[in-house]
Amino acid sequence: PFVVTENCIKCKYTDCVEVCPVDCFHEGPNFLVIDPDECIDCTLCEPECPVNAIYPEDDVPAGQEGFIALNAELAKDWPVISVRKDPPADAADWEGKSGKLPLLER
Ligand code: SF4
Ligand code: F3S
Repeated sequence: PFVVTENCIKCKYTDCVEVCPVDCFHEGPNFLVIDPDECIDCTLCEPECPVNAIYPEDDVPAGQEGFIALNAELAKDWPVISVRKDPPADAADWEGKSGKLPLLER
């Protein structure tokens, strides 16, 4: 499956959700995750993310391997999102910032 990684936190542009044919994105307060049991590896979402937060599970950036389990865990708790919405007003300020994991809200 594909995995949403750290750069989505506090950016949450949601362009990714519009293209998913199986509606497997789930939404939290300031982050999205992909349900690994539903993702069919179609690859469509990866190029849609303006901050390149989406990777195939086998290609997650070094140090971000924990996001694989985090996507699986949070997808069980969070509701499905399939329609794009406006990003947070300060999304651009958080693009590419490292160390955002502690800011993830559940
Ligand atoms: Fe959805 Fe395809 Fe992205 Fe998987 S790879 S989350 S099925 S758009
Ligand atoms: Fe997050 Fe990128 Fe989607 S910022 S909400 S993975 S478009």
